[in-house]
Amino acid sequence: MADTTGNKSAKNFQSDVPASSDGFYLKGLNGYDWGVKDRMTRMFDTKSGKTVMLAFDHGYIMGPTSGLERMDLTVTPLIEFADVLMCTRGALRACVPPTSNKPISLRCSTGATILGREMSYECVGVAIDDAIRLNASAMAVQVFIGAEFEHNSLKNLAELIDAGLRHGIPTLGVTAVGKDMVRDARYLGMATRVCAEIGCQFVKTYYCAEGFEEVTAGCPVPIVIAGGKKLPELDALQMCEDAIREGAAGVDMGRNIFQAECPVSMIKAVRAVVHEGLTTAKAYEMYCDLKVEE
Ligand code: R5P
Repeated sequence: MADTTGNKSAKNFQSDVPASSDGFYLKGLNGYDWGVKDRMTRMFDTKSGKTVMLAFDHGYIMGPTSGLERMDLTVTPLIEFADVLMCTRGALRACVPPTSNKPISLRCSTGATILGREMSYECVGVAIDDAIRLNASAMAVQVFIGAEFEHNSLKNLAELIDAGLRHGIPTLGVTAVGKDMVRDARYLGMATRVCAEIGCQFVKTYYCAEGFEEVTAGCPVPIVIAGGKKLPELDALQMCEDAIREGAAGVDMGRNIFQAECPVSMIKAVRAVVHEGLTTAKAYEMYCDLKVEE
């Protein structure tokens, strides 16, 4: 039955109050459409504006990495504490329960391993249909700036950004640093900026002790940091604190979580630094207390 009465009495238009035209809470993404923003919102907390992504995609280039020998056993207890799961489609289907209901950043480049001649010789490894089928919140593509196959990796990135944009799926540019490159602000600043200019909605890179705030400032979209090789837990937490203070929008961390002495305690401590701004000292204290319980 049509509500003609309600229609007649609809007068509360508050025409003196302008409609909100606030920008989107993540930098550089206001120009995107609803689907992209919705997926970014699933990954980045709307209060802190940050994310803790759990990376366990290492097997696609390294095989069974230490700590990931049995992903079903080691990753499962960490899932509930991660904002996003960063993994391959193989790991996802085999080891991640769909009932986890976590946003997925799907590793979508492939084609090389640590045993091959050249790590930068990658191609697109996942068709967009499969990313959609898996309900990916983002597609992650590795780029190798300055490496032998830089061109291929940038082409992979552009191709997946185009495919993602057709379906509202953001793309994460992952800046791999080849053995001949230096992880300094100049290199990381260039690599992250290139990813953003090609059209990535967010970028993953490494932290550098000097000039990281220039890397984040020069990248017009959010940056998350990779953890890199395992550090003592205190140092890993310090790196998180420094990166966040210097403009990172979160972490996409693997080995420093799943290779920690107590991985669940570690991811909880990392969350406290990233989302609540806990100092390293406090977060380490928290880690030690939780470790006793764990
Ligand atoms: C490496 O193959 C992947 O890109 C990882 O997702 C990335 O390196 C983050 O993991 P970690 O914190 O262990 O460096």
